Amino acid sequence: MEKSVPEITLHDGVTIPVIGLGTYKLKGNQGVKAIQHAIDHAGYRLLDSAYNYENEGTLGEAVRSSSVSRDELRITSKLPGRYHSYDLAVMTIEESLYRANLDYYDLYLIHWPNPIQNQYIEAWQALIDAKKKGLIRSIGVCNFLPEHIESLVQETGVKPSINQIELHPFFNQASQREWHEQNQIHTQSWSPLARANDVLQNSLIQQIANGHNKTVSQVILRWHYQIGAISIPKSASPDRQLENISIFDFSLTPEEMSSISQLTKPDGRINNQDPAVYEEF
Ligand SMILES: NC(=O)c1ccc[n+]([C@@H]2O[C@H](COP(=O)([O-])OP(=O)(O)OC[C@H]3O[C@@H](n4cnc5c(N)ncnc54)[C@H](OP(=O)(O)O)[C@@H]3O)[C@@H](O)[C@H]2O)c1
Repeated sequence: MEKSVPEITLHDGVTIPVIGLGTYKLKGNQGVKAIQHAIDHAGYRLLDSAYNYENEGTLGEAVRSSSVSRDELRITSKLPGRYHSYDLAVMTIEESLYRANLDYYDLYLIHWPNPIQNQYIEAWQALIDAKKKGLIRSIGVCNFLPEHIESLVQETGVKPSINQIELHPFFNQASQREWHEQNQIHTQSWSPLARANDVLQNSLIQQIANGHNKTVSQVILRWHYQIGAISIPKSASPDRQLENISIFDFSLTPEEMSSISQLTKPDGRINNQDPAVYEEF
């Protein structure tokens, strides 16, 4: 059954759905089946991968086996930290395309800023040039703090369309989101279900879910939508894929929204990955 999913327009004119499928750990034949199911039966059109997930090939195969045409899909990949220097970044983007057997990505993001390594401006220049060559439609970042984005804009004059950040009820990133909004950058939520940790057992969210006849996951994903964030929940299960995208037939009240937002904690990150100091290669 196909779901009707709203779309938003990024500042560069590219449109994307407000919910997509995370694909971390979806690999091989099982991964192809899971992603193809998400496209063909659950109605996902936005698919989030990364060079470091080593599943761009799986994703490309799922896209080709699906019944949906390429131009209806929005496919994302990400540049790893070890390839930030300009020449390596250019080659990695090309390699990402070869791995997926695609002509272009809709979105290509710098995976982590790695501020100690401090080569993210070079990486950004490579993304800008790849966009000019038609290899990428929209360029963005992940895990960038405002100061990192400010340096990108200062050095290149080009602003990311998206910043994909850790975001869930236990870590709601209110000030970072406000900064994005002021700068016309869209927030995308990674680990939107906090990787199914104890947030899924939270009694307040459970109570709200009961009142709407929805599941806790659906309430959390609806909360993401209503705060204006694009979520990319991962699920290998056909039932949960459908559950997660079925959030457009109810709405949370302002009181419900604010009580979920109040669950945030200063140390609410899943793995304590603070982009000011954490680096990933
Ligand atoms: N940019 C970055 O630095 C970054 C970092 C992390 C993740 N990401 C991206 O964000 C995506 C999502 O994040 P994530 O995979 O870390 O975590 P997540 O989407 O918050 O949670 C995924 C986990 O939740 C389970 N799950 C999914 N739907 C459920 C439901 N309705 N009820 C109960 N359990 C459910 C999944 O199990 P089943 O598969 O068995 O359903 C899986 O164990 C990733 O896949 C990746 O694409 C990006």
